[in-house]
Amino acid sequence: MKYRFIWGMVIGFALFPAIFALADGADLFARKCESCHKIEGQAAPVNPADKAGIVWVKYFKRGRHPVDLGKDLNDEELKSVVQYLREHAADSDRPAMAAIPN
Ligand code: HEC
Repeated sequence: MKYRFIWGMVIGFALFPAIFALADGADLFARKCESCHKIEGQAAPVNPADKAGIVWVKYFKRGRHPVDLGKDLNDEELKSVVQYLREHAADSDRPAMAAIPN
């Protein structure tokens, strides 16, 4: 199971730049968003499946996040995160909960 995932990543990295961006988004989400959004962090844990894809897009496009993320993520990085959130949003094929477990 673990190896299948790794091979999937390897093949994904080799073939699809879009998937590369997505994996990057997942990593950014886990590192950057988790820095505040975790149990007993300064904000409640947040998961892609908390919102529908279009809601995520609008949330960041309209600057609804209560804290300025400009110093944590540049525009490209935020785009990757939003792409990842959409891929695993509540209305996606693969909704993801508990991406930030602690
Ligand atoms: C510098 C700290 C910090 C970072 C980094 C951060 N957030 Fe937040 N976020 C907050 C705070 C503070 C709140 C408001 C308090 C709360 O909702 O728990 C918040 C609120 C939110 C909310 C609203 C929660 C709700 O229930 O409506 C969402 C969604 C959210 N953040 C998503 C993200 C995502 C996605 C990232 C990564 C791109 C991120 N945040 C990165 C501090 C941060």
